[in-house]
Amino acid sequence: MKPNSVNKPKDGSVIRVDELHKHFTMGDTTVRALDGVSFTIAKGCFVAIMGPSGSGKTTLLDILGCLSRPTTGEYWLAGDKVSNLSDRQLARVRNHEIGFVFQNFNLLARSSAQVNVELPLFYDGVARRDRTRRAREALTAVGLGDRFHHCPNELSGGQRQRVAIARALINSPSIIFADEPTGNLDSASGNSIMKLFKDLHEKGHTIVMVTHEREIAEHAERIMSFRDGRLVTDEWLHQNPSK
Ligand SMILES: Nc1ncnc2c1ncn2[C@@H]1O[C@H](COP(=O)(O)OP(=O)(O)O)[C@@H](O)[C@H]1O
Ligand SMILES: [Mg+2]
Repeated sequence: MKPNSVNKPKDGSVIRVDELHKHFTMGDTTVRALDGVSFTIAKGCFVAIMGPSGSGKTTLLDILGCLSRPTTGEYWLAGDKVSNLSDRQLARVRNHEIGFVFQNFNLLARSSAQVNVELPLFYDGVARRDRTRRAREALTAVGLGDRFHHCPNELSGGQRQRVAIARALINSPSIIFADEPTGNLDSASGNSIMKLFKDLHEKGHTIVMVTHEREIAEHAERIMSFRDGRLVTDEWLHQNPSK
């Protein structure tokens, strides 16, 4: 049975958050990393999240990616109330619905591109031959068809991020979360990563990308800006506010 089907949002949004708070208490001070955030994101939308350092962007993305839970507030992902999901259901969502891309790539340093990309399949118990085939397809799709056996230190920054994107895509997730994916890249590599994201968006993936570069954010359809844990502006670029 699907959890909480009674409360499914009826507006077609794939992400819906209501009054999210995340507070970190250290000694006698409390940081309100998120201080009452509400919004929805439609399926297939490409959203950029902007804001100065410390404004709560990573905290938000971690909650949206089901890597952490809010202190208070609700989160519906693809219609399911995340707080109602069991650990097993959450693990499935993380493995199959969500792909994560990080600023520092988060690759295994001593393993080849292929082994890095295979990892989510390994945890899923996929047979070796299938893992190899799918990892090679994913690497080829991000333009690394000739780099299967290279380790991260034998690849450029842009190529490492492509490996990380191939890994994020290996289970065909519907949503991709990216935290400053171009933050460690030169602008040419950054632009080629944006081209990949645009292709994914055109294929129907929902993309939520944190960046503090306006130029990068403008590849998205919608820019949400945060300050002090609050959503302060929400603007649509290009047309299509109906999305
Ligand atoms: N695990 C944590 N423990 C304590 N404070 C944290 C933790 N994670 C984030 N914070 C604080 O929450 C605020 C928002 O952090 P973060 O979401 O990382 O901001 P951003 O990604 O926008 O730079 C910052 O003040 C940060 O110091
Ligand atoms: Mg951050």
